[in-house]
Amino acid sequence: MLQGKKIILGITGSIAAYKAAYLIRGLVKKGAEVQVVITPAGKEFITPITLSALSSHPVISEFFSNRDGSWHSHVDLGLWADAMVIAPATASTIGKMAHGIADNMLVTTYLSCKAPVFIAPAMDLDMFAHPATQQNLEILKGFGNYIIEPGEGELASHLVGKGRMEEPDKILEVLEDFFSSGQELQKKKIVITAGPTYEKIDPVRFIGNYSSGKMGFALAEACAKRGADVTLITGPVSLSTIHPHIHRIDVESAEEMYGMAMQLFPQADAGILCAAVADYRPAVVADKKIKRESNENMTLELTANPDIAASMGAIKKPHQVLVGFALETNDELTHATDKLNRKNLDFIVLNSLREEGAGFRGDTNKISIIDANGNVKEFSLQLKTAVAEDIIDHLVVTLKNKSVLFEA
Ligand code: PMT
Repeated sequence: MLQGKKIILGITGSIAAYKAAYLIRGLVKKGAEVQVVITPAGKEFITPITLSALSSHPVISEFFSNRDGSWHSHVDLGLWADAMVIAPATASTIGKMAHGIADNMLVTTYLSCKAPVFIAPAMDLDMFAHPATQQNLEILKGFGNYIIEPGEGELASHLVGKGRMEEPDKILEVLEDFFSSGQELQKKKIVITAGPTYEKIDPVRFIGNYSSGKMGFALAEACAKRGADVTLITGPVSLSTIHPHIHRIDVESAEEMYGMAMQLFPQADAGILCAAVADYRPAVVADKKIKRESNENMTLELTANPDIAASMGAIKKPHQVLVGFALETNDELTHATDKLNRKNLDFIVLNSLREEGAGFRGDTNKISIIDANGNVKEFSLQLKTAVAEDIIDHLVVTLKNKSVLFEA
């Protein structure tokens, strides 16, 4: 997948710079052409001679060549590349990139780069956890850059924590994944709901559920990887999105999720409803914390929330595809089929709490897909990321079949 790809490898001043040598070797072995751009501090950690020998290209560090005074054009370099990888990326370079401080060749090249940019941070655990670094990384994500999260382990300081630059093999895998993923969903707009909803009882309490958002976020990443323009409407979760083509909207309650979904679905090609939406909310939200009374029982009056899936099903146009989930504990197939029909879905993904490793919170799921013709396809227990790929394979086929029949 990397054969013939032109990669700019940015190296900054970190002890992890030695790993860049392995990364160059891996890239070259896979047929990529590598141009190294190194910061002045980077050269303190690894010599340009090593890097130019491995990449078969002179290493660029300054704006002008020391030898003949010729100008290194960061603009040409930025246009040349199929991807730019900054590995290792220090807190300082990440900060400069986030704020456009173009005082070295690496950052000017970054600012001129039209290709996708991958950033592999490397630093001490406290520097990585500091709000300044985290905010800068969020800014870079917002620019559409990919952050290759550092791993946990022993750091150069001998402290143990998160901040170790990801291993070169893993970075190669990320790049290969990027260049290999099919783009079957290019130009498709997909709205996804994920996570739980919180229904306020009073200023300190709510009705919620155990959804972590993992399944919905995996679906969003899988769709974006295949070229879709994704809007992810999520309830309260502690996950972050990676792909730059995921537009995330955070909501809290079912009513808020309903409002966003109904506003966005008419312009979308597909909707995937993975959120665990509370069916009921307190009829009245107390404006002050409810105090414990002397009586032992308390009654909370609940009122029905809108059914987001059913409402989207009611306005679905013939070319649109709507995918629902069913989380069941008994009579799974009957309940899932009933939801499929009642909500006017094209297919429904059934997961049962009776299956070990399926449903809420964990990293795995075990699903069956039931389509509108009553066909049932069962899948084995897999990571949610792999489950998401299976669901999106099914979505791609369903969209294709519909586009043959109906014009958007
Ligand atoms: O987030 P994780 O921890 O990774 O867990 C994943 C999951 C278990 C939440 C997910 O796989 C899942 O099953 N999501 C749907 C859970 C659910 O609420 O199912 P349901 O059978 O109650 O609802 C049926 C369908 O209608 C779902 O698509 C749901 O999003 C939708 N719905 C339900 C109620 C409502 N008021 N509006 C809705 O849109």
